[in-house]
Amino acid sequence: METKLYKIDDLTKRTNEIEAAAALLRAGQVVAFPTETVYGLAANALDGAAVRKIFEAKGRPQDNPLIVHIASPDEMETVASSVPDSARALAAAFWPGPLTIILPKKDCVPDTVSAGLSTVAIRLPAHPVAQAVIRAAGVPLAAPSANISGFPSPTTARDVMDDMAGRIPAVLDGGACRYGIESTVITLVTDPPRILRPGAVTPAQLERVLGKVEVDETALQPLEAGKQAQSPGMKYKHYAPRAELSIVRGSLAHFLIYLKTHPGAADAALCFEGETPYIPLKSVTFGKKDDPLSQAQRLFDALRELDRTGAKKALARMPDAEGVGLGVCNRLFRAAGFRIVSNEKKDAIIGVCGGSGAGKSRLCALLADIGAEVIDADAVAREVTLPGSPVLSALQAAFGADILFPDGSLDRKTLASRAFGDPARTAKLTAITHPEILRRIESRALAAAENGQTVIIDAPLLFSSGLDRLCGLTVRLFASEDVRRARLKEREGLTDEEISRRFLSQETENLLAKKADLVICNDPSDDMQAQIKTIFF
Ligand code: TXA
Ligand code: MG
Repeated sequence: METKLYKIDDLTKRTNEIEAAAALLRAGQVVAFPTETVYGLAANALDGAAVRKIFEAKGRPQDNPLIVHIASPDEMETVASSVPDSARALAAAFWPGPLTIILPKKDCVPDTVSAGLSTVAIRLPAHPVAQAVIRAAGVPLAAPSANISGFPSPTTARDVMDDMAGRIPAVLDGGACRYGIESTVITLVTDPPRILRPGAVTPAQLERVLGKVEVDETALQPLEAGKQAQSPGMKYKHYAPRAELSIVRGSLAHFLIYLKTHPGAADAALCFEGETPYIPLKSVTFGKKDDPLSQAQRLFDALRELDRTGAKKALARMPDAEGVGLGVCNRLFRAAGFRIVSNEKKDAIIGVCGGSGAGKSRLCALLADIGAEVIDADAVAREVTLPGSPVLSALQAAFGADILFPDGSLDRKTLASRAFGDPARTAKLTAITHPEILRRIESRALAAAENGQTVIIDAPLLFSSGLDRLCGLTVRLFASEDVRRARLKEREGLTDEEISRRFLSQETENLLAKKADLVICNDPSDDMQAQIKTIFF
């Protein structure tokens, strides 16, 4: 069968195309049309034989009922046996729009539409092309999403053609869908009303109209084995790309840790805008991290794009499940077959490095503000030489009893004058102090990680001390040398020479560049806060 593609750019000038589609529908044929959620595959909802063609074209299981699309709220009465006030209130608040209301059905609705249930799902779409087609056809239209059953729903006419070319007579192209995920489905047959499928109309918005509303547990979980699905669609494998998809819990940092600790886990990534430069894989974006509407809009398209990369295994970032995000998670979790992975707690230890003046302290303070446990290796180094400590006694034995002030505390200057300058003596100092410093850092880091915290280790010699081996991820803070010099002069009043000496005692920028997993730039022209937000929030 040849599939005609009608582009409806300007509705007023495309009455012929709309009329052609309507004529096909009246003749019992199937036509794909755009809605504001996803593209639908429509047939006359009152004609069982026509509706059967939808199931054939999609390869859809017979027990999964369809949504009936109407062009005005009054038409609820033509398919529902009773229309409660709550349905009228919902219609007034959200129609035309991405909400489907389930009501008891009238006998005129064939069993093929309701899949034998006593209820019918009804929606008044907002897309002007959808409305024009329903009106022109003069009958309510049953329409599931216009994809092959199980695959991601189509959000452009091209997606529809990819799945349906040759299977149906016509596709109306009304541009990209505004919402990108299917309508919110709510049943008014239960008390309280229950959301069977989350979408762009959120639980909070529905509660404002209806009072208490429940969200079906299948929103974010697979249907329990042996349990009856409230919404038959929720029991099927859904929205799945061909690539095997898993979702990584946590921030981008956690995602990167997972990648690093599971080499070969993925050959492509599904991430948020702005994250691509940090991810060492082919990446496809699906919206902005803190904008679930933009994620919804992109999600199915991104899943299809992912498959076009040829990836066999992919990892996705985890969206927030709030508001519209609940709908995004509902689709993404199903697309991933509910494979949601996390890091081992011990892997959430992140080492930060960078020369003096790069801004490490500021980075650490910002991370502590969002609940990270920051371990400052310098502070630990001071702790292990407190009066009475075994390390202090060992230092006295090696470098002289008089390296203490009268109050018993360590005189660092005197110690430095004896220990530095001679490699053997410096090595001795390191051998006495480092094991205890490392032991303390490690035990503290593991305890905080076990507590579920993200741990930040701020160590001047992250790599040469071997502390990096404790870290799931290492982050380098970078600022150009002249910027760092200027900061140190201003902040600590150091001379050029003192600054040079300090730089020489630190890990070289070359080493850091080679070893660190990612870099945050902190020259005056860089927005460090934005980078931190991208990586750690
Ligand atoms: O946004 C949308 O709703 C799109 C566009 C085309 O309007 N349509 C759509 O249809 O997503 P479909 O068939 O892909 O999904 C319909 C969902 C399925 O999960 C189905 O099980 C559920 O609605 N459903 C339909 N009738 C139902 C009923 N009487 N009781 C419970 N769930 C029902
Ligand atoms: Mg569908």
